[in-house]
Amino acid sequence: MWEYTDRVMDHFENPRNVGVVARIDGEGQVGSLSCGDALRLTIQVDKEKDLIEDAKFQTFGCASAIASSSALTEMIKGKTVDQALNITNQDIADFLGGLPREKMHCSVMGQEALEAAVLNYRGLPPKSVDADVVCHCFGVTEREIEKVVRTNRLTTVEEITQFTKAGGGCGKCLPELEAILNRVLHKVPGNGAGQPAAQPKMTALKKIKLIEEVINSEIAPALMRDGGDIELVDVDGNEVTVALKGACSSCPASKRTLADFVTDKLRTLVDPKIVVRESRP
Ligand code: FES
Repeated sequence: MWEYTDRVMDHFENPRNVGVVARIDGEGQVGSLSCGDALRLTIQVDKEKDLIEDAKFQTFGCASAIASSSALTEMIKGKTVDQALNITNQDIADFLGGLPREKMHCSVMGQEALEAAVLNYRGLPPKSVDADVVCHCFGVTEREIEKVVRTNRLTTVEEITQFTKAGGGCGKCLPELEAILNRVLHKVPGNGAGQPAAQPKMTALKKIKLIEEVINSEIAPALMRDGGDIELVDVDGNEVTVALKGACSSCPASKRTLADFVTDKLRTLVDPKIVVRESRP
C-alpha cells in the first residue's frame, strides 16, 4: 500500500476539472491503456491574452494519476500558456505535498499531456516518438528520459523506472537507460564504488560550452533542414540570447520556434531553468 498525502487523497477522492472543456483549443493525450495509465487533457485558451481559461482531464489510472491530473488542471488555469509550460513534474508533486517515488511517473505524464496540448493549441505537430523510443514496452523516448533525469536530478536506473516506467517491463532497455543516465550525469567511469557519480555543479564556462555544443550539434542542424540557422549571441546566467538566421529570421513563427524548440532542447540537455531570448538587429 502506498503512503499518500492528505492532498493526494483529497484530489483522488474529489478530483477537480474532470471532463472536457466547452471549447477545445488544445488537446493532449499521453500514455496508453495497455501501459496502465492514460491521460487526456483539454484546454480552453483566451487567444488574445494567451491565457488558459479552463482545463479539464479524463484519465484511466491509479490514485496518483487522478490526483496529478486534477492538480495539473488547478495549477494551469489562469496562467498564460508560457507560464504553464514552466511547470515541471516536480511542481505537480510538490502541489500535492509529494508523491511516492514509485508513482512519480504520474506527475511526468501530466506534464507531458500539457506539452502535447500546447503543441496542439499552437498548431504544431505532436512530438515524434518513433525516432527515439528507448523503452518499447512503455513507449518512452530518449528525450523524455533525459528530461526527467535532469529535472528531478535522478541518479539511478531504478529511479528512471519509477519516474517514467521505462525498464519496468521486459528489461531489454536497461543497458540503454544506464548509458543515457551516464551521459546526462557526465559520470566518470570506474569510480570504484559502483555508485553513480553525483551530478557535478556546472561552472559558468562549462555551461556556456555545453550550450554551444547543443546549439551546434542538436539545434542548428534541425533549423538548417528548414533553411534556417541559429547563432549564439550571449549567455548571462540562465539567460541565453540567440540570433535566428536565414528563413527563420523572416518567419512569423520564429518566436514560437524559439519557445518550443530551442528552449526545450536547452532545458532538456543543459539546464531546466534556461530562458531563451531572441536578439533583434
Ligand atoms: S523495452 Fe523497456 S522494459 Fe521492455
